Amino acid sequence: MMLKDKIVVVTGAGSGIGRACVERFRAEGATVEAWDRDPADTGGDERIVARQVDVSSAEAVGAAAAEAGNRWGGVDVLVNCAGVITPNLPAQDVDPKDYQRNFDVNLMGVVHTTRELHAMLAERSGAIVNVASQAALVCLPHQSAYSAIKGAVAALTRSLAIDWASEGVRVNAVCPGFTRTPMATGQMTPELEAAVSRRVPLGRIFEPEEIAASILFLASDLSSAVTGVVLPVDGGWTAGEPALPM
Ligand SMILES: NC(=O)c1ccc[n+]([C@@H]2O[C@H](COP(=O)([O-])OP(=O)(O)OC[C@H]3O[C@@H](n4cnc5c(N)ncnc54)[C@H](O)[C@@H]3O)[C@@H](O)[C@H]2O)c1
Repeated sequence: MMLKDKIVVVTGAGSGIGRACVERFRAEGATVEAWDRDPADTGGDERIVARQVDVSSAEAVGAAAAEAGNRWGGVDVLVNCAGVITPNLPAQDVDPKDYQRNFDVNLMGVVHTTRELHAMLAERSGAIVNVASQAALVCLPHQSAYSAIKGAVAALTRSLAIDWASEGVRVNAVCPGFTRTPMATGQMTPELEAAVSRRVPLGRIFEPEEIAASILFLASDLSSAVTGVVLPVDGGWTAGEPALPM
């Protein structure tokens, strides 16, 4: 029970990695505020509150933060999973609107939730885990908007960690590799999965529960001495090239 009696906000909780976090955190004793623009059914679990929240809206996030604070009396952990990806296109063909959408959700979503929940998290010496991407560390081809903005999420993570360390708020990020969620499988052909598996030193793509387990570490007291870390959870992709004939 690594999150016993903790109040945890998860954005992007309706699907994929966020949904896996909700399930794992409940199993670890947490009460979960599950925020998504398209919330999932909670299966009648009273310790999960599904709210419809668009994280790109400061007003919507502010209202949800106030409601969560009133209901539970505070918040211990924030996990920012909400995210969107852009169509696969070479940089010159990416519509500026796709940059803007990525910026509004993937970066400003983190700005809004961390700003609106900062006071409550500081009161409880809480923890924030941002879900960036391996694309924050090495680019993905034909994903210039996503790569640039996930890089910004990694940089923001370090800034928040430094600004809020004196309050005891820890801020870290995970950088997942290809993970079997609707976001990734929407683009995954058998050919791409084979190519990705060859490129990943561990030789496969990952399950959302594996990413949730690393997030749990950074969200829990097990990582009480860790802040400002941007942790690859990518089977070694960013460590190096596995397949040279040497
Ligand atoms: N799946 C991968 O391979 C992979 C790899 C690296 C990083 N990531 C990151 O992990 C995070 C989770 O992605 P996933 O793979 O679980 O995708 P997913 O599409 O399964 O889940 C994303 C969730 O975010 C929600 N969402 C999108 N825009 C929102 C908004 N404006 N407000 C509130 N909720 C919103 C969606 O409704 C969805 O439920 C994302 O930040 C993504 O960039 C995913």
